[in-house]
Amino acid sequence: MRIDKMLANLGFGSRKEVKKLLKDGAVQVNSSLVKDGKEQVNPVEDTVTVHGETVEYKEFIYLMMNKPPGVISATEDMKEETVLDLLEWEDALFQPFPVGRLDKDTEGLLLLTNDGQLAHQLLSPKKHVPKTYFAVIEGEVNEDDIAAFKKGVTLDDGYVTKPGILEILKKGPTSDIALTITEGKFHQVKRMFLARGKRVIYLKRISMGSLKLDESLELGEYRELTEEEVELLRDRKDLQE
Ligand code: URA
Repeated sequence: MRIDKMLANLGFGSRKEVKKLLKDGAVQVNSSLVKDGKEQVNPVEDTVTVHGETVEYKEFIYLMMNKPPGVISATEDMKEETVLDLLEWEDALFQPFPVGRLDKDTEGLLLLTNDGQLAHQLLSPKKHVPKTYFAVIEGEVNEDDIAAFKKGVTLDDGYVTKPGILEILKKGPTSDIALTITEGKFHQVKRMFLARGKRVIYLKRISMGSLKLDESLELGEYRELTEEEVELLRDRKDLQE
């Protein structure tokens, strides 16, 4: 990453202000004076000082992505494009990984972080983190489906799901629904509807715990979580033990 970008990201001012800091000789990288903003640094490995003070580069990164269809939520794959391929180099540097999985054709909220502890909390089956999906279903979704999901449905492998909260947003030849579940079994939403003889034709995750998808993110775009959003995720009030 360019030193001027790193310092600007860390709040040392605009690119122009950072340029002045550099020109004034305030910045050192591994004890050598650096005046050129284009100088490349590795923010994790290099020691950067400003006016003699070591600059703490953040340890953790938290990214919210609006996952596009067609990419897989794995860290690497021989053939397929992964969500990590969509990251800028300076974010990939922190080696974030996706927290949980979305199917290749599923869109929407995907959290990527290198904070293993938080990821573990969010994924732990014991914590029952609620996840809400918007879906388009072939055919008409009805009150019986709501009641069935409320009780829990039996999946193709005999597993009985925990209760899900189904809301019908639009009925017709295809139905729009929102479904909140607290588990993350393989293809869970699709299989829950299959258990009711219905097919999911579009699926998008819109929230995870207290984190909501930022609808201003285009498919494939991502941004860092705000401090407030990270705190909300850590704050476990919404997580039932
Ligand atoms: N349920 C599914 O069926 N697919 C997903 O990607 C997420 C939940």
